[in-house]
Amino acid sequence: MTHPIITIDGPSGAGKGTIAYRLAEYFDFNLLDSGALYRIVGLLAFKQGILTADILNGKTDDEFETKVANLTQSLQLDFVINQERQAVEIIIDGKPLTDDIRTETVGAYASKVATLPSVRTALLDVQRNMAERTGLVADGRDMGTVIFPQATAKIFLTASSQARADRRVKQLMNNGKSVDYDKILAEINARDEQDQNRAVAPLKPANDALMIDSSDLSIDEVFERCVAFIKEKLA
Ligand code: DC
Repeated sequence: MTHPIITIDGPSGAGKGTIAYRLAEYFDFNLLDSGALYRIVGLLAFKQGILTADILNGKTDDEFETKVANLTQSLQLDFVINQERQAVEIIIDGKPLTDDIRTETVGAYASKVATLPSVRTALLDVQRNMAERTGLVADGRDMGTVIFPQATAKIFLTASSQARADRRVKQLMNNGKSVDYDKILAEINARDEQDQNRAVAPLKPANDALMIDSSDLSIDEVFERCVAFIKEKLA
């Protein structure tokens, strides 16, 4: 039996994670946060000295792709929904991941390892298997274009880089962190650039995706639009 699949793609900071979580709850579907997979691989590659500052700055290394692909293949990954934290918990080799993978630094590591075709191939099955158990909401960059081209409803959620930087600044300030708006905006632009221009599975909307620009919309407004569109597709 095939289960419904909802894909939400778009650049970082457009609100995909929040919307995906709320949709999964609303429709009682599973949730795939595909960015977390690339974040885990990026963080582990950095910790193991495979991903270096030189490589992050553009230096090439012949063995880099093979080493990161081997690391990716050796991981046993699973996801469990954590109702308390309203999030998906990542299980690596049987243990919950405790490292903070949500920082912009780890986002940059993720974006780097995500350019490697063999890493993307190594993560195909873990993503597609998520759709076998029940309906699925999947968020990322290539969910509707590469991973689930047969998805029931595809959404491309975007926002201007300024709006995304504003939101990130507010979020960090709410958490008591010091912020530098220009630095955050530059990081967002650099990540967009890398994600949109890589050779394999670049960030782009699927032809049949509903486009939503959330720059001037509240989360509730985005959510309502998504629900209406998905219900139409599920009918
Ligand atoms: O969604 P996120 O910010 O957690 O993603 C982190 C990085 O991982 C993103 O900059 C690019 C990469 N990524 C990807 O290439 N493909 C996906 N489906 C999800 C994320």
